[in-house]
Amino acid sequence: MQNCSKVLTCLLLSAGVLSSISYAQQNAAPYLEKRGAATQLIVDGRPFLMLSGELDNSSSSSLEYMKPIWPKVAALGLNTVVTPLSWELLEPQEGRFDFTLVDGLIDQARQSDEHIVFLWFASWKNGMSSYAPVWVKDDTRRFPRVIENGHEVEILSTFGTATEQADARAFAALMRHIKQVDGDRHTVLMMQLENEVGVLGDSCDHSRDADQEFASPVPEQLTAYLKAHAGELYPDLRARWDTYGDRTTGTWTQIFGDNQRADEIFMAWNYAQYIQAVAKAGKAQYDIPMYVNTWLDDGTDPPGSYPSGIPQPWVIDVWRAAGSSIDIYSPDLYETDFEEWCQRYHRAGNPLYMPEAEGGATGAANVFYALGEEAGIGFSPYAIDDESTNYVPLSESYHAIADVMPLLLEHQSAGDVHGFVLGPNAEINGPKADFTVNGYTLHVALDNGSGDQAKSGFGMILPLGKNEFLGVGKGFHVTFTPRDDSATLVGIASVDEGVFKDGKWIPGRRLNGDENDQGASWRFDSQRVRIERILLYRYQ
Ligand code: DGJ
Repeated sequence: MQNCSKVLTCLLLSAGVLSSISYAQQNAAPYLEKRGAATQLIVDGRPFLMLSGELDNSSSSSLEYMKPIWPKVAALGLNTVVTPLSWELLEPQEGRFDFTLVDGLIDQARQSDEHIVFLWFASWKNGMSSYAPVWVKDDTRRFPRVIENGHEVEILSTFGTATEQADARAFAALMRHIKQVDGDRHTVLMMQLENEVGVLGDSCDHSRDADQEFASPVPEQLTAYLKAHAGELYPDLRARWDTYGDRTTGTWTQIFGDNQRADEIFMAWNYAQYIQAVAKAGKAQYDIPMYVNTWLDDGTDPPGSYPSGIPQPWVIDVWRAAGSSIDIYSPDLYETDFEEWCQRYHRAGNPLYMPEAEGGATGAANVFYALGEEAGIGFSPYAIDDESTNYVPLSESYHAIADVMPLLLEHQSAGDVHGFVLGPNAEINGPKADFTVNGYTLHVALDNGSGDQAKSGFGMILPLGKNEFLGVGKGFHVTFTPRDDSATLVGIASVDEGVFKDGKWIPGRRLNGDENDQGASWRFDSQRVRIERILLYRYQ
């Protein structure tokens, strides 16, 4: 009874919230908004979580090839598809744009009720320049290349003014077109600028213009930013700046040292300036969130073995100093220390979004940490259309998260949802984790209710009301201690598994006996991802 009335209140409240969404908000293009503890993506006036996956690089170059993929990914539970779009196919001849693919992809997405995040593969993709149109590739005088060891390489130089202008012109034409065909439908949610940019093979471009710039003073725009944001700079960048005396004037080597890290900062500044300019030209046509993605390195390898200048955490400040048209700096997160990388990117106002991540069972677990603990705006394993990957576990997670999405968004904003991945090798939590929320300390541990300890567990927990919690996940159990009065004991009044249908809680089994350890713990077995509500009571 008590549960029912709460659900009703919840629904009435939601109705109130819905009716307060103005016509203007509903029709606004997708945007990012700081709501309480989280920055969220707002689509059609409401916060939205992208349960997405990125396509293989070449899939979306053919509408025919894509036809069977859309219904498959929709069945997996994706609501958004991260979809490459290349400059070479958009502008095959200079000044002649072909929007057939853009229109076709948007149309196909709508038919499967999907959203799109477009990847603008243009001047750079994985450091190289293979997606530039051939009229750009074969005119190396007009569109100069990076010079390494005295030779041109197949990487467009950031010092090519004509290249930047051509890329920006094409991107602006694309955004103008997307606004025309999608400005009132919002199928397209965000744009990725380029893909994993930076110089590969050397830490620095050594073209004549680059060498000349490198020997010149660091622009005041950058040093003024460092000074104004000294207290919140990424620690490694701050330490580097400190090492050389926190100078605000001088050359790149005087301010950042005579080493490859100074080269990297210099390249970050130049890629950032170029890409901020491309993004700005696009936003002038249609202003939706824009981001850049990162091929990660732990900082132990020399820049150039990974793209030098790419927004690794320690140069994000440099990118920010160059402009404000990039809204998000994103990790392509395949690393095993997943939680730590999330934290490196979810800081200083940068919301967490990863356009690429590992899928399979790992992705199925990590999505709970990313969206729960780190209030991510989306999650997106790579190669979602690759049939050799088992996407069944991810699909199970996505369906459960979609079920609780309105509540999760509300609690991201309240800052009281906790997500976790448990396992003998789980980086931060290991086999257990403690959280303090809603007047209790929650002790979360790998489930061992059926005799065998679960090998891994993951999930998220949020408070629903006094003495009440919602949990989603599998392979863990929870015990509770009160925060206010340690003399009081905590008992389980009830545990129900269930689902949400159109925002309404539909209870299934009442879980008791072996399923809650004879009243001793709140269990999520290892068989499948479950959604459960628990009500607690206190006694002496
Ligand atoms: C990262 C890139 O961003 C993707 O486009 C793709 O090339 C993958 N690597 C391949 O693993």
